[in-house]
Amino acid sequence: MPVPVLTVDGPSGSGKGTLAQTLAQHLGWHLLDSGALYRIVGLVAVEQGVDFDDEIGLAAIAGHLDIRFTPANPGEPAAVLLSGRDISSDVRSEQSGYYASRVAVFSAVRSGLLALQRGFAKAPGLVADGRDMGTDVFTDAPLKIFLTASAEQRAERRYKQLIDKGESVNLAALLEDIRLRDKRDSERAIAPLRPASDAVLIDSTALNREEVFQRVIELLRLRSLI
Ligand code: DC
Repeated sequence: MPVPVLTVDGPSGSGKGTLAQTLAQHLGWHLLDSGALYRIVGLVAVEQGVDFDDEIGLAAIAGHLDIRFTPANPGEPAAVLLSGRDISSDVRSEQSGYYASRVAVFSAVRSGLLALQRGFAKAPGLVADGRDMGTDVFTDAPLKIFLTASAEQRAERRYKQLIDKGESVNLAALLEDIRLRDKRDSERAIAPLRPASDAVLIDSTALNREEVFQRVIELLRLRSLI
């Protein structure tokens, strides 16, 4: 029996990170936060002085990452360990999101991370969160979700998150940033953000977290995956 993989792709702020984490905890399945891997490649590049235009140098970093996600407590994100060092707060910073978007455009970086990502598919199952989980990394996954929400809704959610963290932010600037990032992610030549042809689209603009979660659980049941 192959290990069941549930892919959750979509733009930033669609709620896919929280959805994937909640599903993994509920199902007792492993979780792959693939965005974190791109963020870490960016962080290591800065640490080692590798330029963001140096595709070969960045790919070498991607191919040699020693990463562990510690099991999370319910409702909390997993800690991220790089060669045993806890880098969780750096990984979740706005800065590393920017680094990730710079390194993610290179095909050598993307292919350098493939084996690492596929290695997360272990029994009893995997929830894989990202942009290209259903289109490139786990093309045979028996259930693929593409989660979207309007740019306005995503900006508002992000705004609330940052305010809760005590950061001073501007809603209009966040919206502009989200629109630009969407454009860059969906128009790039390598692995553009798009739903897999066999993905189920869920628009979370008018749905709360629980409703989205229940929808996916229902789909998993319908496909006899749980
Ligand atoms: O989901 P996130 O915010 O952690 O992603 C950070 C960046 O990494 C974002 O610009 C898109 C990119 N990314 C990607 O290209 N492919 C993935 N599977 C995950 C993230």
